[in-house]
Amino acid sequence: MRGITNTSILCIFYLLALLAFGRSNVQERSSNKSFVIDYNNNQFLKDGQPFRYISGSIHYFRVIPSDWRDRLKKMRMAGFNALQTYVEWSSHEPEPGMYDFNDILDLETFLKTAQEEDLVVILRLGPFIDAERDMGGLPYWLLHKNQDMRLRSSDPSYLTYVDEWFAVLLPKIKPLLYENGGPIIMVQVENEYGSYPACDFAYTSHMRNLVRKGLGDNVVLFTTDGGGVGYLKCGKIPGVYSTVDFGPGDITKPFEAMRLFEPQGPLVNSEYYPGWLDHWGAPHSTRDAKVVAKSFDDMLAMNASVNMYMFHGGTSFGLSSGSNLDGSFQACPTSYDYDAPLSEAGDPTEKYWIIRNITKKYLPLPSGDVPPASPKYSYGRAHLAPLGSVFQMSPLLQSVTQKWPITFEQLLMPNGLVLYETVLPFRIADPARMSISDVHDRGYVFVDSQFLGMVSREQKMYDLAVSALPNHTISIIVESQGRVCFGSEINDFKGLTTNVTINGYSLENWKMVPLPLTNMTRLSYALHYLQKKLKGNQVHPERLMGTPKGGMSFYKGSFIIPSNDSHPQDTFLYLDGWRKGLVWVNDFCLGRYWPEVGPQVALYVPRGILKKGSNTLLVLEFEASPCLIPSSCFVTFKDTPKIDGSTPK
Ligand SMILES: *[C@@H]1O[C@H](CO)[C@@H](O)[C@H](O)[C@H]1NC(C)=O
Ligand SMILES: *[C@@H]1O[C@H](CO)[C@@H](O)[C@H](O)[C@H]1NC(C)=O
Ligand SMILES: *[C@@H]1O[C@H](CO)[C@@H](O)[C@H](O)[C@H]1NC(C)=O
Repeated sequence: MRGITNTSILCIFYLLALLAFGRSNVQERSSNKSFVIDYNNNQFLKDGQPFRYISGSIHYFRVIPSDWRDRLKKMRMAGFNALQTYVEWSSHEPEPGMYDFNDILDLETFLKTAQEEDLVVILRLGPFIDAERDMGGLPYWLLHKNQDMRLRSSDPSYLTYVDEWFAVLLPKIKPLLYENGGPIIMVQVENEYGSYPACDFAYTSHMRNLVRKGLGDNVVLFTTDGGGVGYLKCGKIPGVYSTVDFGPGDITKPFEAMRLFEPQGPLVNSEYYPGWLDHWGAPHSTRDAKVVAKSFDDMLAMNASVNMYMFHGGTSFGLSSGSNLDGSFQACPTSYDYDAPLSEAGDPTEKYWIIRNITKKYLPLPSGDVPPASPKYSYGRAHLAPLGSVFQMSPLLQSVTQKWPITFEQLLMPNGLVLYETVLPFRIADPARMSISDVHDRGYVFVDSQFLGMVSREQKMYDLAVSALPNHTISIIVESQGRVCFGSEINDFKGLTTNVTINGYSLENWKMVPLPLTNMTRLSYALHYLQKKLKGNQVHPERLMGTPKGGMSFYKGSFIIPSNDSHPQDTFLYLDGWRKGLVWVNDFCLGRYWPEVGPQVALYVPRGILKKGSNTLLVLEFEASPCLIPSSCFVTFKDTPKIDGSTPK
């Protein structure tokens, strides 16, 4: 090198070398990249070589994009060689024909980042995903298109929208297949379909054909079902590889069930549970790391390929979490920590290190150090001030008037709150029985703006005693706690799904006002006009209509983050003294809070949504704020999580 003086010659030489290298790389790719099932030897073959994956689930839609690489790197550093993720239709097509692949929905960037971090990808396309998401990831508006739609079936009114969605999705996926130089080695068709009573083979065949047509003949397609014959018999799709899912414990029986449907080929557990999901009001789920490690080790010793669901659960931001309906209605909280190896904030837990010790017996650990836990910071108190109530905002919003109450879906209202209002036309007994027999999911009832009481699907309490006079206004604010995400009742209409009666007489002539809580632009407009309307009138919480404690009201505030380079940092938001509602930081909806019911007490605030200097806070409190005394009207940012608080008896 010393003798060369003409740098331009050197540059040209490098350029040629790069071109030549790039070309041979491409040729090798196109001729060699293959991923197939070797049935004879019960294994996968990647580029002709035996291959087994140890994979982990991380959902892009539950982690903000600036943290994607960190989480993927930490998973790779535990020896895992694959990523598994769902694709969530409802987020990508929030309204019919309106598609979103930006920011937290930038699926292609997420998958390419996984590839850069040396992970192959197992992609679960849906359309249904469950995943403890609103309506199991199906768009709510399907129920607007056809109220009687048979979801997850060959009902043509359903398939039309599935086909349209896949016509948008599959062309984005195809270039990312392994054979095309991308990371995707396997693609899942539907999801645990054997757990859905429809058992519609015309539907599952349609889904297989749709994916084959869009992605070609080579990619390995698979299904996932519970580890029992009862599940597999409706989940099995001819020409698609059947896999099972199950948690720690007996691993023999589920794999035997799989063998009845796939006598040859690699054993696969597509969802191995290191923890479990949570419900509001029920203790936080945990699973002992040693128990998790034991079955993990046993499966890997059998040469099985295993996906850990979840490796990192993350957060169901906004109003995206779903509910279960297993005997009773149970809503899922904002945190999706899952007691996974990486905590909700992405930190390696003790379970991480125990699992990593198992993984390394079977696959080489990459060199280098595991990235450390991110620093956390206590930003302290942020004071808030009342902005106005839902009742003050509602006259500024569009409304719909009908003889009988209609659902969120009929109103094209994705989620959140709808105010239902009518005027009592006749004299009633004192007290009279008001029945809101199938409220979905929680109703706050007011008579002439005085809080009367609540009805609750969770508690199966649908009646209350009402004293009211003719011409009094009856208002019911109905909250969706998230649509059912699993089982036969995923067509979970929200709002008032039946008539409201008083001593058996149905109330008529309803005005319905949806609150724009899922769209920040529309919410900002509404808040802007609310402030304009109230200008000059100082807003006192006790004057806010709603509960006597200032519920059903918006509060705003701000807090300062130091301007030096060590900030912003991750933090956790505590709402002590607040009851139930929604919170936004810098216009990003963190999600639902309900600390008195638990088990989640604090909300995770990722540093990526914070900025140096002033940050904004917006709270919508449904029930009772601590703001009657202005000095107690605050929330607190602390440096420790709390998702395992006490729960009611
Ligand atoms: C790729 O294919 C070529 C030609 O078939 C072969 O010589 C080469 O060894 C293959 N490379 C790998 C990594 O399998
Ligand atoms: C696992 O695979 C290895 C290598 O192919 C083989 O020697 C061994 O017998 C297999 N173990 C089981 C339990 O199938
Ligand atoms: C992991 O294994 C090493 C020895 O291989 C041991 O020293 C360490 O304690 C183990 N860590 C955990 C968390 O089990």
